[in-house]
Amino acid sequence: MALPPTFLDELRLRTPLPGLIGRRTRLTKAGRQWKGCCPFHNEKSPSFYVYDEHFHCFGCGAHGDAFAFLMRSEGASFMEAVERLATEAGMEVPKPTPQARERERRARDLQDVMGAAESSYARRLRQPEGAEALSYLRGRGLSDETIARFGLGWSGAGRGALLAELREEGIEAPQLVEAGLMQAREEGRLTDLFFNRVMFPIRDRRGRTISFGGRILGDGQPKYVNGPETSLFSKRRSLYALDLAREAVFRGAALVVVEGYMDVIALHQAGFGGAVAPLGTALTAEQLAELWRVSAEPVLCFDGDAAGARAAGRAAEVALPLLTPEKSLRFATLPSGEDPDSLIRRDGPRGMQAVLDAAQPMGEALFGLIAGPSLPEKPEARALIRNRLMAAAGAIPDKALSAEYRRVLLDRFFAQSRRPGLKAPPRHARPVPDEGKVREGRAAILLALCLRHPHLLPEVEEPLAMLDFPEGRLRQARDAVLAWLPSAERLDSAELLAHLANSDVAVDVLRRPDLPPGAQPDATPAEALEAFWQFFGFLRGESELVEDLRLAAVQLTETADAGAQTRVIRLAAALDALRRGEAEEPAEGA
Ligand code: UTP
Ligand code: MN
Repeated sequence: MALPPTFLDELRLRTPLPGLIGRRTRLTKAGRQWKGCCPFHNEKSPSFYVYDEHFHCFGCGAHGDAFAFLMRSEGASFMEAVERLATEAGMEVPKPTPQARERERRARDLQDVMGAAESSYARRLRQPEGAEALSYLRGRGLSDETIARFGLGWSGAGRGALLAELREEGIEAPQLVEAGLMQAREEGRLTDLFFNRVMFPIRDRRGRTISFGGRILGDGQPKYVNGPETSLFSKRRSLYALDLAREAVFRGAALVVVEGYMDVIALHQAGFGGAVAPLGTALTAEQLAELWRVSAEPVLCFDGDAAGARAAGRAAEVALPLLTPEKSLRFATLPSGEDPDSLIRRDGPRGMQAVLDAAQPMGEALFGLIAGPSLPEKPEARALIRNRLMAAAGAIPDKALSAEYRRVLLDRFFAQSRRPGLKAPPRHARPVPDEGKVREGRAAILLALCLRHPHLLPEVEEPLAMLDFPEGRLRQARDAVLAWLPSAERLDSAELLAHLANSDVAVDVLRRPDLPPGAQPDATPAEALEAFWQFFGFLRGESELVEDLRLAAVQLTETADAGAQTRVIRLAAALDALRRGEAEEPAEGA
C-alpha cells in the first residue's frame, strides 16, 4: 500500500498522546509533560512520562510513539494501530484489501499444494520407480505402518515430473516455487528441488505438511536436503514430528529431542512416541518455546563426543534466559558414536530407556558443561570457572530460580576440587557506546537488513516499530517499510524496493560499505535474523534489553500470555545476538 510519506507524521501530529495513553493509566501534568504509573510494568510510584510525540518509562525503559503504544498495550500490528488512530483522527488510510485478501488465499492454496505433493511422493514410493527407496526404508528397519504414519515417499527422478503430475490438479509452476518444491536455476529455468530422494514430510504442530526433507539413497552429498523458508515453513520454529509427539506426551510419553529424522522415526517405532528433532540446526529459542508448550521438562539428547558437548552447551545458553520454575530441561548423553537409531538397533528399546533414565537435570548438566569433568588447581582458572557458573545462574531472569541455581552450582563447585579440564567461553557484558553517528549507522544497517530480507518483517514487526529510530529520513523509511508489510504481495526485496522507489534512503543504506554479511543478498534467513537482533540490540542497549527481558519474563509467569512469550523469545534472541556480536566486534567508539 502506498502511504504518502508524510501520512504517518501527520497522523502522529493529530494524535495527542496524553489523551490516548490517559485511557490506560491516570496521567497528571508534570511541567510541560505528563506522568503516571507505567502500564507496562507493575509500579507504585510513577516513572512513566508522556511527551508530545513519545512516551518513556524510566522504570522499565518502555519507549515509543502512539503506534508503538497501541502495539504494545493491545497487541495490535503496526497497520492495525495506524488504522485505529487514523479512524480516530478522521484520516483515511488507503485500504490494502485486494492484495491482502489475495495473499491470504494464497497461503491456503499453498497448504493444498503441499498436500498434493505429499500424496504424489507417497504414491511413487509404492510404484516401480520407488521400489529401491521402499527397500531402503525397510532395510533400515521401518515397518509399513511406520512408513505410512510418517507419510514417507519417493521424490521421483525430478525433471519436472512433480509439476507434470500436479498440473492435472490445477497446480502450476509458480505455486511449486512458492511451496519451495521447485527453484529457478540459470536462465530462469525451473528445476525440482527434490529428486532421487526419500521424502520426509515436515508437519506443523497440528499435523499440516509445511515442507519436506529428502534423503539420498545410501551415501552421497548432501545426505539430506531440506525445503527452504516459505510462508508456511520457518525452520527455526518447526520441530519434526511435533504433531505426533504432542499426542504421545499427552498420553504420558516423555518429550525427547534428538538430532535426526531417522532417529525420530526409529524412536517412535520403538515406543518412544515423544521424540522430535530440529531440522538440521541447533535448537532455537522458538523451538524451546514450542517444546515447553508440550512439556515442562523436555529431555535433550546429545552425542557423547565433543561435538555433542558443544551442542549441549549451545542449547543451555539459549535456554538459560528462558528458564522459569515451570520450564526446565534435562540432558541425556548417548554412548559415543551412536545415535538413537543405531543405539536401538544395537541394544533395543532398553538401551535407549537407560540413556533417558540417566538424563541429568539442568543444574547438574550445566555444571558439567562449564566446569568440565574436573576442576583445575590454579586459583585463577578456578576463579574463572566460578565466575562462569555465577554468570550462568545470573542469566536466569526469575530471581528465586536464579538464586537456587547459584546455590546448587556453588555447592557442586566446593564439593568437587581436583584435576584440570574446562570448556565454554565466558561472556562478559560490556557497555555499549551509543551516540549520534554510531546510532545512525546502526539504524541504517537495520534498515538495510529489512530492505534486503523483508521475510524477517513478520517476526520483527513489533520490536522494529518500538525501536527509537533516529528522527528524519531513517525513521520515515522504517515507517514506510512497516506500512508496506500488510499489503506486500510477497515478502521480497525487489518488491519492497520498487515500492520505496521514490526514496533515496534505501539506495544509500544499501550502498554502505559497513553492512554485515547478514545484510548481503545471499545471506541465509538465519544469518539475516541473527544480524537483525544484533543491531536491534545495539540500538536498544544491553542494560535495557536485560531489563526488557526480565520484565517480559515476569509478565509471562504472571499471565502465561502468548504475547509475553513471544516477547521473551525475541528479547532473548536479541540479547544473545548482541552479546555474541559484541564479542566479535572490535572495541569501538569508546
Ligand atoms: P545425521 O547425519 O546425524 O543424520 O544428521 P541421521 O538422521 O543420523 O541420518 P541417517 O541415519 O544417516 O539417515 C542429523 C540431521 O541433520 C540434518 C537432518 O535433519 C538430519 O536428520 N542434516 C544432516 C541435514 O539437514 N543435511 C545433511 O546433509 C545432513
Ligand atoms: Mn543416523
